[in-house]
Amino acid sequence: MSRPAPKSFHIKSFGCQMNVYDGERMAEMLGAQGMASAPEGEAELVILNTCHIREKAAEKVYSDIGRMRRGDGTRPMIAVAGCVAQAEGAEIPRRARDVDIVVGPQAYHRLPGLVADAAAGKRALDLDLPGLAKFDALPRRPAARASSAFLTVQEGCDKFCTYCVVPYTRGAEVSRSFEAIMDEARSLVDGGAREITLVGQNVNAWAHAGHDLGSLIRALDALPGLARIRYTTSHPNDMTEGLIAAHGDVEKLMPFLHLPVQSGSDAILKAMNRSHTESSYRAVIDRVRAVRPDIAISGDFIVGFPGETDADFEATLALIEKVGYASAYSFKYSARPGTPAATMDGQVAPDIMDERLQRLQALLNSQQLAFNQASVGKQCDVLVERDGKRPGQKIGKSPWLQSVVVEDGPAIGSLVRVELVSAAPNSLAGRPLAAVAA
Ligand code: 5AD
Ligand code: SF4
Repeated sequence: MSRPAPKSFHIKSFGCQMNVYDGERMAEMLGAQGMASAPEGEAELVILNTCHIREKAAEKVYSDIGRMRRGDGTRPMIAVAGCVAQAEGAEIPRRARDVDIVVGPQAYHRLPGLVADAAAGKRALDLDLPGLAKFDALPRRPAARASSAFLTVQEGCDKFCTYCVVPYTRGAEVSRSFEAIMDEARSLVDGGAREITLVGQNVNAWAHAGHDLGSLIRALDALPGLARIRYTTSHPNDMTEGLIAAHGDVEKLMPFLHLPVQSGSDAILKAMNRSHTESSYRAVIDRVRAVRPDIAISGDFIVGFPGETDADFEATLALIEKVGYASAYSFKYSARPGTPAATMDGQVAPDIMDERLQRLQALLNSQQLAFNQASVGKQCDVLVERDGKRPGQKIGKSPWLQSVVVEDGPAIGSLVRVELVSAAPNSLAGRPLAAVAA
């Protein structure tokens, strides 16, 4: 059955920064086609940009689709994009009949054609993994952007950790070219971005024409108008000499490193196919700290991986004690269809996972509070990102990626020099000293 082509859209992104980036690019592309952005309840096309990393995230898409019918019985055109689309494909419209379009994370540049197909009543499914084609096909980045922007430099993963769906949903590792990245960075800065976060599933595996991430960061450092550089997410084995050295001498590179480890037990790391050990991970952190002693370290942890014993879990707690994290994400292991770990012996009972996660998070939360408290009295720049609740109040980020609340802060996009005056678990208060070049 055909229907009118939608004139407005709404995109809901779940999951990681790559999805945030993809969501922005989809919005820019549909905007360039003359479609208007609209609230979810009014949009004629709703795109769910999904995440498949854990079962909970993947199942969310189906409950969201179920809620899409409106008061008058109508519904928008519905597209499922992102990693659930890639992983479940044609199974999605079989399970949720309201879905009109299924499009994978490397095919969304073809969304306008899929929308036209769906409007003509045709089945619209595109799960091609063409690598970098979307980057060439998308329109240039428009102006008037937020003060902080994501820039995808690398996609996919060749590491095959045994719990992880990413190699299947995002395909093999591909690096965008040095020139394409510099070009996009320039247009982001011209459009108003003061901070660029380079993103990729394995961002520090990025390499092109003799460059590695360290030399890319040095090239970005020379861009006038850009104040801050960050990157995420990294694998411990890809922390090259050049990248570590950049932390020591590139001023715009912020002192923050997200370096997932998942477990502190060598037996579990081996079963996870992480190809590093607890001590080789800590050695990387020691090397980064040697050149940048104040660096904030962040991590990802999984509790309850198949075969994880009490002693393995204690080893993870011991690693956390040794490293001292400024922030972290932690998860209960979720068996993902098609991954090797899903069929391993020794699946851990849910109540044991709950208990371990609670203990782990209590420790990580106390470290985060301690890190924030240790920042009180320091002076630093804050990049203002949004308004706070009270008039004049602004919220931004410290170099260590802490949220800082500034009373009477300057405009969004400004850097303001503050003294950090008090700390809470998730934020600090900053007293402005003087505005840095706006
Ligand atoms: N179960 C639980 N957590 C997972 N992660 C990835 N796959 C799984 C899984 N199957 C976590 C890892 C990774 C982060 C993005 O998500 O900690 O670093
Ligand atoms: Fe989720 Fe991984 Fe896909 Fe990001 S790449 S959206 S974390 S499944």
